[in-house]
Amino acid sequence: MSSTSAVTALVARPSADVLKICRAAVGRILNILALLLSVAWLPAEAQAEGAAALARAKKIVAGRCFLCHGMLGEAASELSPRLAGQNAQYIAKQLAKIQSGERESSAMRPMVGDLTFEDMRALGLYFSMQEVRGHVSADAQLIARGAAIYARGSAAAQVIACAGCHGANAHGSETLPRLAGQVAAYIVARLKNFGARRQLEGDAAMHDIAAKMVEQEIRAVAEYLSTLD
Ligand code: HEC
Ligand code: HEC
Repeated sequence: MSSTSAVTALVARPSADVLKICRAAVGRILNILALLLSVAWLPAEAQAEGAAALARAKKIVAGRCFLCHGMLGEAASELSPRLAGQNAQYIAKQLAKIQSGERESSAMRPMVGDLTFEDMRALGLYFSMQEVRGHVSADAQLIARGAAIYARGSAAAQVIACAGCHGANAHGSETLPRLAGQVAAYIVARLKNFGARRQLEGDAAMHDIAAKMVEQEIRAVAEYLSTLD
């Protein structure tokens, strides 16, 4: 190897590395640019989709649901459940179950007959976005009993803690219903229904749990949950 070619080799090697680094840097910058562009575009699209869904839901709610659930899902009376703050997927799933007849409800069945899958998803999104405020209760003793059952279950009745599934704050999850702020009378009715297995739908765990609970425990846990935000 001549001295010139040795020098060229020495110079060429770093320059190849520099090229590689430059190419990598340009690639990274292009990636970042592509990411920035997609980030700039996607939310606008998603936002438009979300706005369209909310408008679609609002129209349906104003047309019929508000009569019983209120325009903001706050429940128009003790007879209907609160939908405000309820988890979107859970709402859509219940509507589908009521439509198919899997969940029996003489009040709700005529309301869902013509709803499409998209309507159900839109309604879920709409109600999930509404604010919830806990109900006021004067019965501190009943609430304390309910809070204990919710957090730790009831050894006497061999009932496992509700918090294990519905969450410490009773906000539920994508698939589990929120119970915080729900109308107490609705929770009582639902638990009695689960317990009596009058309705075949619902989680098997809820049937077993509710069947073991006595009236006073059901009332206590319902009262407690209704006061949560
Ligand atoms: C005539 C009164 C009435 C109207 C109108 C009504 N609902 Fe209901 N809704 C009820 C009652 C009562 C229940 C409880 C049913 C049960 O447990 O069997 C209920 C239950 C529900 C549930 C299940 C809630 C849960 O926590 O499991 C959803 C979701 C729901 N309604 C959505 C709607 C939507 C959406 C509309 C409009 C398309 C609507 N409802 C119209 C009375 C009504
Ligand atoms: C093993 C998990 C699990 C435990 C523990 C549990 N739940 Fe549930 N619960 C569920 C599931 C799942 C559903 C939804 C069923 C469905 O999809 O219809 C549900 C539904 C409910 C509903 C109906 C909500 C609505 O909006 O209609 C009530 C009320 C309820 N649970 C109360 C309780 C209470 C009170 C306890 C404790 C005593 C409890 N749950 C413990 C899993 C659980």
